[in-house]
Amino acid sequence: MLLAPARELDSAIVPSPVHAFAPFAAALEPLLRAALPGREVICWRDEAAFAAGIGEVEYLFVLAPPRNHWAAAERLKLIQCLGAGVDDLLPARDLAARVVIANNRGMSAESMAEFALALVLALVKKLPFFVEAQQAREWRRTLPGVAAGSTLGIVGMGAIGQALARKAHALGMRVLATQRSPKPEPAVERIFDSAGTHELLAQSDLVVLLLPLTDETRGSFGSDAFAAMKPGGQLINLARGGIVDESALLEALTEGTIAGAIFDVFSREPLPEDSPLWEAPNFWITPHTAGGFPDLLERAIAGFAENVLRMERGEAVLNRVDRERGY
Ligand code: GLV
Repeated sequence: MLLAPARELDSAIVPSPVHAFAPFAAALEPLLRAALPGREVICWRDEAAFAAGIGEVEYLFVLAPPRNHWAAAERLKLIQCLGAGVDDLLPARDLAARVVIANNRGMSAESMAEFALALVLALVKKLPFFVEAQQAREWRRTLPGVAAGSTLGIVGMGAIGQALARKAHALGMRVLATQRSPKPEPAVERIFDSAGTHELLAQSDLVVLLLPLTDETRGSFGSDAFAAMKPGGQLINLARGGIVDESALLEALTEGTIAGAIFDVFSREPLPEDSPLWEAPNFWITPHTAGGFPDLLERAIAGFAENVLRMERGEAVLNRVDRERGY
């Protein structure tokens, strides 16, 4: 027979390879092979290999990809970012408009909301004070605060903020939030648009930043925002360091404009050893870890695999990023 039946031809088609770029590329390889069996899997961790190979790539999974090689990405169809943030990638002006960008937003929502709540309670209950007293071998007392009845302000309420709002509401906290297009959420007493941010800051005992880093939000939390915070207010940043003016933060902590802060994210990461923030008063640091949970990579790769298969079937991908909006 000269022509094989169509079904046999289909099964003879070799599926497209998949590529990944990440600092921990080796850990991704077995996960990609398991999630997309029967495909060639190529993982890079250095920019030179990425630059040399990008012309062949159709489906790409990334964390913090190099920025200057997209013009050569002639066959690229999909870039899937590991987590929610796409600020390492966007704006990508030399990336063809046909390339779909997707992320894994929502994946960390519950675990990150728990982390946020843990930090809120740590500040309210003054846990850093007790840890520091123990380190000094001192039996030092202070009165813990009460979360119930205090006000939590969530700046940039998406999936994580919504999960946090529900947990905080269940503890009896009053919850306020900002959202770009405000939509009712029963756990939140009042939702402001971004123009209402200072009103939220003025009313909140604890403020949690969960905004994406975009041209609009970059540097948007500066000295005027610190001045707008309620006296005794405290700030938690789990979003991106670039949103906050770090010299204004240092000044607000040093001058006591705010009572304390915990930051998981910084404009430069790792936070440089000589940063004055290490020693800032009433300031505690976690190392960009709020979104983590044990099977994070498996879940992130599963999101990518699902989108590769969806694209191949001609279906809409999940969690498509709006390139103009930047998230
Ligand atoms: C983590 O920082 C993320 O963007 O998901």
